[in-house]
This record gives sequence, C-alpha cells and structure tokens, in this order.
Amino acid sequence: MTNPIKKIGIMTSGGDCAGLNAVIRAVVNRAITGYGWEVVGIHDATEGLYFEPRRYQRLSLADFYGPWARLGGTMLGTSNKGNAFNYKLPDGSTKDMTKAFGEGVKALGLDAIVVIGGDGSMAIVNKMCKANNVKMIGIPKTVDLDAPFTEHTVGFASCRSIVVEALDRVQTTAASHHRVMMLEVMGRDAGFIAMHSAVAGGADICLVPEFPYKISAIVDKLHTLFKEGNDHPLMIVSEGIKDEHGQSLSVAVKEGVRYKGAGEYINQRLMAVDPSLSLRVTNLGHVQRGGMPTAQDRLVASAFGVKAVDLLAAGKSEVMVAWQANDVVDVSLEKVVSRGAASLDRNDILVKTALGLGIYIGEV
Ligand code: F6P
Repeated sequence: MTNPIKKIGIMTSGGDCAGLNAVIRAVVNRAITGYGWEVVGIHDATEGLYFEPRRYQRLSLADFYGPWARLGGTMLGTSNKGNAFNYKLPDGSTKDMTKAFGEGVKALGLDAIVVIGGDGSMAIVNKMCKANNVKMIGIPKTVDLDAPFTEHTVGFASCRSIVVEALDRVQTTAASHHRVMMLEVMGRDAGFIAMHSAVAGGADICLVPEFPYKISAIVDKLHTLFKEGNDHPLMIVSEGIKDEHGQSLSVAVKEGVRYKGAGEYINQRLMAVDPSLSLRVTNLGHVQRGGMPTAQDRLVASAFGVKAVDLLAAGKSEVMVAWQANDVVDVSLEKVVSRGAASLDRNDILVKTALGLGIYIGEV
C-alpha cells in the first residue's frame, strides 16, 4: 500500500522553550531526505491557519544550513492564549475555530500535522485534526517536564541548566554576604525543575507543589545549617507551591492561571517568624525559557523529530512520541490526555536523592 502522505505541516504551540527549532530541523530533514515529502511551517500555532492570508512558510533543508537549529525560541512563532473552541474575534464575538482550522489545512494541502506542544495543546489540535480527518503526531515540549509517559520533554534540560547556573552564581554572592539566597523557579504544578536543580546545584531547601511544608521546619533547618557552619544556605522554591495551609497562591487570569509571588510569600513568612534572617529572593522568570538549547535537549529534539516522521510514514496518527527506557516510543494521545499532567512522586529517584542528601523538601 502506498503511503498517501505528500505534504505535512508543523507547528509549535504553547509556551516556547529551548530546543523547538532543533525539533523542526529534525522533522524537515527526515521528511524531505527520508520520504521526499514537502514540509510547511505554520506560524503562531493553530492561529496561522484560521484566517486569510494564512501565515506559514515552506521549509527546506537550506533553512537549517545556518544557525537556526542551535537557537532558542521558535522560528515559527507560538501562542499559548486563545481558546480554539471559543476563540475571541476582533469584533468581540467568539467562535469555534475547528472549521476554520480544517479550511486552513485544506488550503495548504496538508495530509498530516506535527504539533510540538504540551499535553493541553496536543489535546486541542488533536480534536481539531480528528474533526477534519487530518493525521496528527504530537511531540512533547515543556520546561516543566510534566508531560506523562515520557522521561524527557524538549526544553527541560536547558531550563534545568539555567537554574543550576543561577544557583552557582547566587552561591558566591550569598557566601560573601553570609546570607540566605532563594530562587523562585517555573514548573506550574510540578516540582521537577526545582527538585532536579536543587540536587544538581547544591540547594539546602527545596519547596515543590507536590509536598506540604512547615515554615517552622524551614526556620529550624536554616538554624541547623548555621550551627553546622553553613552561613549562606541556598533555597529553591517552585512557583506553584501552596501556602502553608495548602491554599493555592496562583491567581486566575483570562487564559487560566498565573503563578505569582511564591518566593516572596515564603520570604515574608520566614521574616515573620525570624526577623533576624538575612535573605534575598530572585525570581528567574522567563530567563529559564531563553537561550540556546543544551546538547541534551538537541538530542531529545532530534530523536523525537525523526520518530514523529517515521510514525506518520508507518501510517500512525493520534499518538505522542515519548522517551522511555532509552528508546523513543509512541503513546496514544487518548492515554496522554486522560492521564493529565505528571508530577513528582515520593519514589522518584531525585526525591529519594534529595532526601538522602539531607535537603529539606517538605513534610514527606
Ligand atoms: O508551562 C511553561 C511555563 O513556563 C510555566 O512554567 C509558567 O508558569 C508558564 O509557562 C508561564 O507562561 P507565560 O509565558 O504565559 O507567562
């Protein structure tokens, strides 16, 4: 049976991260050199398809002779706002864009779409592809590492390196001033960025959304460290931690939820218990998503991109590529969506390692 695919689309959807261009390069290389397909890059996620003139570019091998695959961000642009099924039009009315998406796909002559996105984006695009009878493969990307069924997501390793470097940098200034330094990091409701970075970057206290904590226990830990001769403990706090009573610190915004002020909250609470503490807070923010991808992210991006194209060539659709036990496999998107976001578990090797190192990670 001949494979009906001749032309595929690729898009990046959701928050950006380092490594997206490396995925695009891998998909383009494999599709063109492996199968002789045409590849179209769709701009700004599904939004590039909705209206005329549609926003896209034809991608060729030559697009990657230069530095693109080494650069952060996404050459195609992305979007993490706008509800595709209740999309706000310029006149203020709202519309389900499923039909407009299908018309865009048809206008561009696409037989399949590769979506580089988080589980939320993949679920949305998959629903639109299904309704319009278009094949689709998802590639997991997120600095948060909260995609289920995969040990790696594109962007996580680069983000982790940035946080570890930030810990290295605040350590020297903390030591000079004999003060506590706290870093607030991203991750939404998952503590992977914080936990990995705490272990690799030598933090003494690490607060994550998954585990409750006690302010009194943090103060005790700091004083124990002071007594032991560590006069500049390092703390790392996930943006998604709850307050001491388990209540969310996030704020509701138009597009969903924004994580705000976790580091400052802990700072205020610590000061209230022990005003003698000398402590400074740094919120790393979007620095964590910028810059060039690490070698690790480029490897994951390349393996995911090649596998995604091979899966389409083999007739697969509605699956996400996933890294499992040193191999890239495919997992049904239905399973991915019904599982939902991944989070840290008490039995995670890095949780056990953090505990083994004596890092305070909450009341686990
Ligand atoms: O999901 C990735 C992420 O970077 C989160 O860690 C963070 O909470 C969020 O996106 C920030 O989103 P935005 O770029 O819309 O501010």
